[in-house]
Amino acid sequence: MRSQFLPYCLPLIGEEEISEVVDSLRSGWVTTGPKVKRFEENFAAYTGAPHAIAVNSCTAALHLALAASGVGPGHEVIVPTLTFCATANVVVHLGARPVLVDVNEHGLMEAPLVERAISKRTKAIIPVHFAGQSCDLHALQSLAAQHGLPLIEDAAHAVGTTYQGQQIGTHGQATAFSFYATKNMTTGEGGMITTSDDRMAATMRRLALHGMSRDAWKRYTETGSWYYEVLEPGYKDNMTDLQASLGLHQLRKLELFIARRREIAAFYNQRLGGCPGLDLPTELPTGRHVYHLYPIRLRNRNRAEFIEQLRERNIGASVHFIPLHRHPYYREAFGYRPEQFPMAEHLYRGFVSLPLYPRMTDEDASDVVDAVQSIVEGESGPGRRLGVNSGLEVKESAL
Ligand SMILES: Cc1ncc(COP(=O)(O)O)c(C=O)c1O
Repeated sequence: MRSQFLPYCLPLIGEEEISEVVDSLRSGWVTTGPKVKRFEENFAAYTGAPHAIAVNSCTAALHLALAASGVGPGHEVIVPTLTFCATANVVVHLGARPVLVDVNEHGLMEAPLVERAISKRTKAIIPVHFAGQSCDLHALQSLAAQHGLPLIEDAAHAVGTTYQGQQIGTHGQATAFSFYATKNMTTGEGGMITTSDDRMAATMRRLALHGMSRDAWKRYTETGSWYYEVLEPGYKDNMTDLQASLGLHQLRKLELFIARRREIAAFYNQRLGGCPGLDLPTELPTGRHVYHLYPIRLRNRNRAEFIEQLRERNIGASVHFIPLHRHPYYREAFGYRPEQFPMAEHLYRGFVSLPLYPRMTDEDASDVVDAVQSIVEGESGPGRRLGVNSGLEVKESAL
């Protein structure tokens, strides 16, 4: 058994990120400045989206995208129940009603279930690319287009995910990404919105900074001016250069991070594939899964006990997600009941997210497999180790 506890998640931050933050501190640009602009340009180039707007969280990104789509009191927004509360909380913040829908066996939103939830009051649809795998966007796009509704993608888990060969970030009206500490790349806290729509981009940019007609970056440079106008009561959602300092390097390393995540996922698939009573995540043929999460599903086993047994073996784990309809607020304010969401209930009851992140060594990944196997099979042998010939293990010096 391993002697040190393996946390469920840890970010991988190198010396480049640290030096870049120090450079920002020395430069005097501690809020939104040239590095945010460069990070936005690089992110737009990576996703292929014409516009990328850096903000202080994915929650802010979703909120801005919905606000720019005109969501307000009396409207409904369709949201999967199997998601983090931020996806639906922002709908409530705008005075609208989150209409929860069930998911498919992969934890993803599906067009037929969405179609049944559309009403005259529906104003937007938020697909969540759960765990780092894309929803079937073509089906959702055509349904949304048929009803004249915007698709606001929650891609908190899905930076680098592809759908039909194309990066997530260019399919819907707007796409919201998260750079929270546990995500596939991090800026500590942070987020990004991409869109192809010039007007929506301008509105979101304005709303992200008090609704002012010029942002601080433009106001305080030599070419800028002191004059601005408040066109609407906006928010304070801007990203800082300190965050962008991290983002610039994390983005540069992202493909390496994803390769390592996929390598560990392939190892888990191979080694846990035959374990009795376990369902493993599947990669759909529609695109690249970036394995932000690796949720296994226990078939007939007590989940709390299993997590405790992992902990006894010094392995951390988590659960994604407690479906929204189970939370007191959503239950009581909107009257949702578990029977309305049979698949989310089925998944939730057995879900356990295993540790999977680029900072993990081959040894760590093998320890996770050994721990799971010893619990489900009483097996304790060393098994086959990961990455012997791959050379893919992410070493900070190589990044
Ligand atoms: C599906 C989903 N949406 C939105 C968010 C919110 O992201 P952030 O913490 O960057 O606001 C999260 C965060 O975990 C998430 O998992």
